[in-house]
Amino acid sequence: MSLSARIGIIGGGLMGRQVASALSRWFVLDNHPVQPELLAVCDPVESRREWFRRVPTVKLFAADHHELLASPEIDVVYVAVPHNLHEQICLDVLKSGKDLFAEKPFGIDLKAARAIAEAAKNLKRFVRCSSEFPFFPGGQRAFKIASEGKLGRLLEVRAGFLHSSDLDPDKPANWKRQAKTCGEIGVMGDLGLHVVHIPFRLGWKPKHVYAQLQKFYPQRPDGMGGLAPCDTWDNATLHTGVEIEGHEVPIRFEMKRLAPGETNTWFLEILGTDGGVKYSTKEPKTLWTFQRSREQSWLRTDLGFHGPFTTITGGIFEPGFPDCFLQMWAAFLAERAGKLEGRFGCVTPEEAVLSHRLFAAALRSQAEQNAVFLD
Ligand SMILES: NC(=O)c1ccc[n+]([C@@H]2O[C@H](COP(=O)([O-])OP(=O)(O)OC[C@H]3O[C@@H](n4cnc5c(N)ncnc54)[C@H](O)[C@@H]3O)[C@@H](O)[C@H]2O)c1
Repeated sequence: MSLSARIGIIGGGLMGRQVASALSRWFVLDNHPVQPELLAVCDPVESRREWFRRVPTVKLFAADHHELLASPEIDVVYVAVPHNLHEQICLDVLKSGKDLFAEKPFGIDLKAARAIAEAAKNLKRFVRCSSEFPFFPGGQRAFKIASEGKLGRLLEVRAGFLHSSDLDPDKPANWKRQAKTCGEIGVMGDLGLHVVHIPFRLGWKPKHVYAQLQKFYPQRPDGMGGLAPCDTWDNATLHTGVEIEGHEVPIRFEMKRLAPGETNTWFLEILGTDGGVKYSTKEPKTLWTFQRSREQSWLRTDLGFHGPFTTITGGIFEPGFPDCFLQMWAAFLAERAGKLEGRFGCVTPEEAVLSHRLFAAALRSQAEQNAVFLD
């Protein structure tokens, strides 16, 4: 018999609706140990709440998160709100005695991330943070290949997440373009946790960082006929050094809102003296592996549809965003129930705090135009 998990969503925008979609097709998973039910949504904007009327299980529609948290029927809360609200709402979730699935970046800055992680520990709640791209079959395969340690001495690693819609100067500004709501870390908070998830899970923790941060359009249309200031970092290239098996290895993390032609490209490349692996969501079913024998070759493999949790989807079909998002939720709820059974888990609070340490050091590096050591 499967365990139940009664879910509430705080923040019914882009990501809140993705969660409703994932939970509504839970039956595609084969024998998952947990049966979730989406019972509640909270959003101050009525039209956002009303959208959830199409989900038959949702019974509670709250304008204030305290109302949702007062419900004894909710076990787990997913928080997907602007970054300036993460800390207070996540702390309120934990104090209400519920478990937390927090959207990245897990607080607007390092101080907020530390406060959420500390509360999770003290209140003994199960807490994880969202990062779904490593759950693509190619991300999983790259992680497995790197974990097996058969790549020889590592030469270098590149990990990135690239967007391009900000190339259009007429794209309206929203809360993600302003430091007071998105955070001073800007694009690093938007895209960074997806990029560091696998390297951090492999134990590759940066010792130092040299950051190149860029801002482009200082203002954009505000959607109401005027202009709004845009003051967050748009593109970030972080040159880091990581100690791996006694050698320092360069890892370059790239997070960009202005990368020509890249709508939502997450990639990982790990190169060693004996082998290598490359994966990009631009070719979602394709994995490249490097082989060195008498001749050197890159081998292209069509991976098909094999996530950590088996589904009814045919093994030769192509995976997409909703699939890796469902796999991430499957991992979150399985781990919460103690049933992850060696599979890849979601970002831990410690990893989220480490990402903020890296991004805070990157801000310092940019300001000082110097490499900064993470203490
Ligand atoms: N994992 C991913 O791939 C991914 C993608 C995009 C965004 N995100 C993250 O998800 C979070 C939300 O981003 P989004 O794109 O869904 O933003 P969004 O603007 O589409 O939605 C945010 C929602 O929060 C609501 N809100 C504002 N104040 C609130 C409050 N006090 N209580 C409850 N709800 C409130 C807003 O009305 C809005 O509906 C952010 O942390 C963002 O970084 C994650």
